[in-house]
Amino acid sequence: MKGIILAGGLGKRLRPLTHAGPKQLIPIANKPVIHYAIEDLVASGVIEIGIIVGYSAERINAIKDACGDGSKWNTKITYIEQDAPRGLAHAVWTARDFLGQDSFVMYLGDNIISGGIGKFVKEFFASDADASLLLAKSRTPERFGVAEIKDNNIVSVEEKPVKPKSDTVIVGVYIFRPSIMRQIEVLSPSARNELEITHAIQGLLSSGRKVLHHTISGWWDDAGTGEDVLHANEMILSALKPYNAGTVEEGASIHGAVEIGKGTVVRKGAKIIGPVKIGDNCTIANASIGPYTSIGDLSEIISGTVESSILMSGCLIDIGAKKISGSLLGKNSKIRNGDTMRLMIGEDSDISV
Ligand code: G1P
Repeated sequence: MKGIILAGGLGKRLRPLTHAGPKQLIPIANKPVIHYAIEDLVASGVIEIGIIVGYSAERINAIKDACGDGSKWNTKITYIEQDAPRGLAHAVWTARDFLGQDSFVMYLGDNIISGGIGKFVKEFFASDADASLLLAKSRTPERFGVAEIKDNNIVSVEEKPVKPKSDTVIVGVYIFRPSIMRQIEVLSPSARNELEITHAIQGLLSSGRKVLHHTISGWWDDAGTGEDVLHANEMILSALKPYNAGTVEEGASIHGAVEIGKGTVVRKGAKIIGPVKIGDNCTIANASIGPYTSIGDLSEIISGTVESSILMSGCLIDIGAKKISGSLLGKNSKIRNGDTMRLMIGEDSDISV
């Protein structure tokens, strides 16, 4: 069984963070989103992974640098280039030489799923179905692919319908046999000018092929917006175990699950309320951190309160009595106190003071 991870997509709803790099590299609890997909695939028995990348050398190289040849996870990673964002089915088609005659798991590189996909994969391989979909209940089904189910069978799937036929949505992990290629081959571009995987799945259903489904019980996130990213961070941090590889000075207070990386110093007067994950070589001085906060390597929090936020590496915060909450800060962001704001921010930034 092979796996493919889709790491194209322009991440428009995460600008300006995605001006600097692909959304699949945004860190959730200090780990790029795409690493969760790789780990999940490897744990479910996938032996070779193809990552679909594209659109600019910069984006492609960033993904390659972050994932390497796969040896870190005991797998082999092959990079497959897609010329433009032409849809999920087009991405599968692009990977056809890599996939050959193997069955495969397709994992959208911005999805995070609690509890893994082991059971889902096992159920599929114990069957003779042509495909299987991972499903979940959603309060906003119109944002996703929607599955209509009758007598426990999927009878139709629709991509982001205006009037959803159910509240059961398609999570970004799919399993296919090679027969899916015949459906993709005959697809025409949708209204949004993409080859939709939901249309290919509907093709299987309409020709009487078996499409299984597995409903997840835990949480999942499609890290498409800032809110989704922060929610995923919160959920991952909820399972954090306390761990300290740094130095906590006497007079610093630590409550709950806090992970402190090597070389990090938590100074006297600092207050950390878990769950909080702090990377390597950071300094936390006269500040209050947490809960639900991830701080990337080489960051300095000199003063202020930071809660429910993600700070990527190299950030500097020195904001006195002020508080940062529900925020996503890109690499090397600096926020300082003062009566005058001096800003250098990307387009689509969202700031409240
Ligand atoms: C894609 C699929 C959609 C699915 C979703 C899950 O949408 O087209 O059917 O429900 O992923 O994350 P996208 O997020 O690419 O718009």
